[in-house]
Amino acid sequence: MVKIGIITGSTRDSRVNLQVAEWVKSIADKRTDAEFELVDIKDYHLPKFNEPIPAIMSQDYQAPEAYPWSKKINGLDGFIFVTPEYNKAITSGLKDAIDYLYVEWNHKAAGIVSYGSTLGVTAANNLRLILTVPKVATVGPSVALSLFTDFQDMSTFNPAPYHEDSLTKTIDDVVSWSTALKTVRE
Ligand SMILES: Cc1cc2nc3c(=O)[nH]c(=O)nc-3n(C[C@H](O)[C@H](O)[C@H](O)COP(=O)(O)O)c2cc1C
Repeated sequence: MVKIGIITGSTRDSRVNLQVAEWVKSIADKRTDAEFELVDIKDYHLPKFNEPIPAIMSQDYQAPEAYPWSKKINGLDGFIFVTPEYNKAITSGLKDAIDYLYVEWNHKAAGIVSYGSTLGVTAANNLRLILTVPKVATVGPSVALSLFTDFQDMSTFNPAPYHEDSLTKTIDDVVSWSTALKTVRE
């Protein structure tokens, strides 16, 4: 069975991100065709990116925090990124977490769950473009959540029921593409 990491996209102390990531995990866990793990970028305490050599050229990382992060991503077959939108982009924390690695991401699949005052759609598209470089294939279906209608008081996550269907379609493709891409890595 493929292992899919649900990757958080915000590291703020007051983030709503974890509530959304936990909702994704609760729906994913109903399935029996893959294993799902919540991977919180905040737990890895990655410093602001300051590597002297890009990961595309060397995996000899200077930051000791990069090694557990590398090991975690290496052990996963696919991802579901849960991203907010900050000024029309993903957060600097998520960008750094992606930038730290290269081969660990290669030839894997990903789905995107976004949220924000404008549904986080621009951040989701920004993330799709970013992921082309480390060779992560993003599936078409996605989930886009509104800070105004899927959260109470913009802080307590309470998604409209129809989002579960979009999430299921997203996970369906992440699981099948992750399974298929295993053959490319082998
Ligand atoms: C600096 C900043 C910029 C933001 N810019 C956008 C934006 O461009 N589009 C949008 O939809 N929401 C935007 N928002 C709203 C965030 O998506 C919202 O605050 C969300 O809760 C942030 O996720 P987090 O709580 O998990 O960190 C912005 C929030 C912040 C703090």
